[in-house]
Amino acid sequence: MSRRAQFLEVLGIPTEWVPRERKDDPAEAVPEMAAVHAALPVVEAPVAETAVVAAALADPVETVSAPVAPPVARAPVAPSLVPASPEPGSAQTDREAGIAAMEWPALDAAVAGCTACGLCQTRTNTVFGVGDRQAEWMLVGEAPGENEDLQGEPFVGQAGKLLDNMLGALGLARGRNVFIANVLKCRPPGNRNPEPEEVAQCEPFLRRQIALLKPKVIVVLGRFAAQSLLRTTTPIGKLRGTVHTYEGIPVVVTYHPAYLLRTLTDKARAWEDLCLAREVHDRAGAGT
Ligand code: URA
Repeated sequence: MSRRAQFLEVLGIPTEWVPRERKDDPAEAVPEMAAVHAALPVVEAPVAETAVVAAALADPVETVSAPVAPPVARAPVAPSLVPASPEPGSAQTDREAGIAAMEWPALDAAVAGCTACGLCQTRTNTVFGVGDRQAEWMLVGEAPGENEDLQGEPFVGQAGKLLDNMLGALGLARGRNVFIANVLKCRPPGNRNPEPEEVAQCEPFLRRQIALLKPKVIVVLGRFAAQSLLRTTTPIGKLRGTVHTYEGIPVVVTYHPAYLLRTLTDKARAWEDLCLAREVHDRAGAGT
């Protein structure tokens, strides 16, 4: 059985299931991709962000005949998601510099004791992240939910089970060559959307985790995490299919597992995204 078939099976899609709209003209195959083709500016993105895409789709067996978004120009900055840069010399600048110098144990402790935003008042546990601190793969989600807040570990609910299955289909496992983290380390009450100020206070932790880990590839799960990390308002359908970069590290965007639980038709697209991520990883000269 091909890896794609395995993946679709663990996601609960019969192997013979073929998205009807993908049989014909690729430009029409995926509605949001058609919109990308129509709306794309002529400006090309920097080579570093895009060169890998063509190569990533070279393997017709393991990659899918999905339409891949052509290079996108740097998307407009999202005022609602992008933390404002702190004033030079301000307390926030000092805090960020301190975090940027931390090793894993200090970073772990700083997250556990963080009171930088109001979420510290409602959390049960901080959720630092879990996994292999030498991992070549990093997955980044949005924020802890109820189960994660109770257990102090990311993606432990239903969405987490699906995520584990997705990792398994790639030959990966939680804790083995994968590190999983979130943009926010504390649960927003009632799972509301994170506030820009909360992102601003928490982002230095994620940035330091990425700097310490130096993964070969970052897979960003869902719209919120993608827009926060890439500092853009571009919809997720347009962010998929292109290799972005964060601090020089390749970033592949895919759907959030909680969304995939509700949306059967996009599960096959998630497989395409993971194939792209695997190609990016493999081409970075990594071992797994
Ligand atoms: N959703 C996320 O984005 N992260 C988690 O840890 C759990 C659910």
